[in-house]
Order: sequence, then structure tokens, then C-alpha cells
Amino acid sequence: MPIHYSLLFLKCYQSVKTFVWSLKSLRLPTSSSNVDDDKQERCQEHKVLLTSSSNFSESETMFGDKLESQALQKGCEEDIEKHCRRCIGYPTMRTMNKLKKYGMYTLFFMFIFVVVFQFSEDVRQPAYPVFKRSETNQTNRMIIVVTPTYKRMTRIADMLRMANTLSHVKDLHWIVIEDGNKTIPAVQDILDRTGLPYTYQAHKTALGYPRRGWYQRTMALKLIRSNTSQILGQDHQEGVVYFGDDDNSYDIRLFTDYIRNVKTLGIWAVGLVGGTVVEAPKVVDGKVTAFNVKWNPKRRFAVDMAGFAVNLNVVLNSDAVFGTSCKRGGGAPETCLLEDMGLEREDIEPFGYEKTKDREIFVWHTKTSTPNIVQSKKNQTKPVPPPDTFGYFVEV
Ligand code: UGA
Ligand code: MN
Repeated sequence: MPIHYSLLFLKCYQSVKTFVWSLKSLRLPTSSSNVDDDKQERCQEHKVLLTSSSNFSESETMFGDKLESQALQKGCEEDIEKHCRRCIGYPTMRTMNKLKKYGMYTLFFMFIFVVVFQFSEDVRQPAYPVFKRSETNQTNRMIIVVTPTYKRMTRIADMLRMANTLSHVKDLHWIVIEDGNKTIPAVQDILDRTGLPYTYQAHKTALGYPRRGWYQRTMALKLIRSNTSQILGQDHQEGVVYFGDDDNSYDIRLFTDYIRNVKTLGIWAVGLVGGTVVEAPKVVDGKVTAFNVKWNPKRRFAVDMAGFAVNLNVVLNSDAVFGTSCKRGGGAPETCLLEDMGLEREDIEPFGYEKTKDREIFVWHTKTSTPNIVQSKKNQTKPVPPPDTFGYFVEV
């Protein structure tokens, strides 16, 4: 329902104006010492009429409308009201009526305004505050997000989405490692525009490592250990490390409500991963006893990279990195890293399990599909040239 605030404001303004006017016209009784006898007499007439009326509200009406016009007809001067007030001894009924009437209007509109204002808050709010920074308190704990990234047609779009999300989180340092020989200006521009502190370096996957971001995360862990104070900044004494891939979909609350509060090892549900709709820790009496996963559930930590974060102290107190393989993980690197950090299942702090139903997923293991680029059918014998980007930057 559209609400016309301007109209409402105008109405309220008019009512308040009238109310103030009514107050102004309300004058206190003055001394009757110099009252003109003739006028005094006429006023007495009114008074008699007024008091003779049995019903007070009727007399109010009479005095307010009928009697005054009678008085004016009788040749009373403009200040009849003033003299009558002297006779009767309190502000004229007409003024009182106006005061009551417009005062009631004012109160009524003020009440309506307050009610409408209160209940229309959701409607008036533009969409973005839903995603505004929900943390108001200053925190001394920095979130360190590690993101491996590499050139592909959809990368700028993926990084942009992630940047838009992270820019809503404060006290966050974003470490982005380019799987390549050099950093890419378009990526750097995105990082600049987040307004976040960040580190962007290029480390091409070394020989023997799978090309899946493992080497880049290793380089990031080394960077964190060698440049801890620069990454934390002056205002932060603590940190939490999270491996956030560039193609996932993140709820801001993942950072503000979960990651920020990780004291050792935080674990939560991940959507659309591991060949199923959701992978989640199985929690009994606040402790993780197993993992609700389809793929390789026997792992000590059967969790996707997106589903955990570790306190910076855990990282600093170990030299664990991503190796070139992880047999215990059946090929997935997560459990190897966490085990190498000296962590046990008892160390897990589960997040987001408290409700028994309508539980929310704060991170989704999405993947942007590579678009099917339609190529010209002519000259098929020659190598296909890259599609025209008309001067726009696309990593083709
Ligand atoms: C899944 C997990 O979610 C990853 O955390 C894990 O590293 C990966 O499996 C694995 O196999 O080890 P998935 O979605 O299949 O990830 O992989 P991608 O999202 O394609 O890659 C993971 C990260 O590595 C991304 O940030 C991606 O940009 C980066 N990557 C990938 C590179 O830096 N270089 C590559 O050649 C490929
Ligand atoms: Mn991915």
C-alpha cells in the first residue's frame, strides 16, 4: 500500500499551525475596572443566555456560533469577545471550542503519524540496509579471508560478487592470491573499491601441486605467519583465518556471526556441496560427534573448505600448509590441513545448529557455469580468434 507521507506531513503541519493559532487567541481574563457599561450590559445578556441553557455543550454551541452572531448584529464591536470574557470570567467558549476541536485533530493526526511511522518502517527502508554492516561494536578480532583465484571468463563476475559481500564486513583483511605470473589490474580495481585492507599477490601453482588453489593457500599461510602484524593492523590483537573461494555465495552473517567468534575451530553447514544439498556437522549436546555428509564421512573433519575457520593462534602455533596431496581426505585437502594443525574433533565449535528446524545456511558452494560462446562457423580450418569484447575487459 503506497503511503503519502508528504500529504500526511502537510495535514499534521496544518493541524499544529491551527493549534498554535488557537493557543495564541486564548487570552487570560483581564481586569474589568474600565469595562464599558454598555458593552458590559450586552455581555450580561449573553451570560444569562449562556447560563440559562441546561445543557453545557449546547450552550457552548450557542455561544460559539449563534450568540456571537447575535451580538455582532446588535452592533457589538470587534472586541466583543474580549469584553464578554471579562463578564464571564474565562476564555470565550468559541475559543475553547476551537482549541478542543483543533487540539483533538492535532493529537489524532500526531497519533496516526506515529503509528504509520512505526509500522511502515520495513516499507520505508530501502533494500540495502538489510545487508548493512550488522556489527556495531568495535572488535579487536580481524577476519583474514584467503582467496585463491585464476583467469577465466567468469572470474571478474565471481570476484565482484564476493567483493560486494565482503565490503559489508568491517575489520576484514582480504588476502587474494592469483594463480598466475602476475596480478591482474581489473582484480586489483575490485579490491581497491571494497575499501578493505587487502593483500594481492601472484603465485603460479608450483609443479606437483594440483591446480585447485592449494598452492595459493599455502603461500597465503606463509604470508600470514611472516607478516602477522601488518595483516592484523594496529587495532587488532586477534584474528580468524577463513579460506573463501572466489566462486561461493556468502551470507554476510557468515562473517559477522560465525567467523568473527571462532576461538579455535569453527564449523558450520555448507549448501550444495559434496554431491548433496547440504553438508553439516552432527551436533549432540553442543559437541560435534560426526558429520552429516554423503562423501567420505569417516574423515576426522568431513567438511568443505567453505565450512570452517580457524583462530589465528592455531595458524601461528603450527607450520601446517597444504601439501601436494591428501590421502586421509580421499583427495580433499581440508582434513589434512586441520589434522596437521593439531586439531581434534573435540576442538570444534559448531555454529548455526541451535534451531531444530528452519536452520539457515550461510555459505553455498556455488559454481558459475562457463557460458557457451557461439563461434562463427566460417573458416573452421583456421584457429578460432577470441570473441570480440568491443573494448570491454573480459578475460577470454
Ligand atoms: C572444492 C573446494 O570447495 C575447494 O575449497 C577445494 O580447494 C577444491 O574443491 C579441491 O578440489 O581441492 P571447487 O569448487 O571444486 O572446490 O574448486 P574451485 O572453486 O574451482 O577452486 C577452488 C579455489 O581455487 C577457487 O578459489 C579457485 O579460484 C582456485 N583455483 C582453481 C585456482 O587458484 N587455480 C586453479 O587452477 C583452479
Ligand atoms: Mn568452487
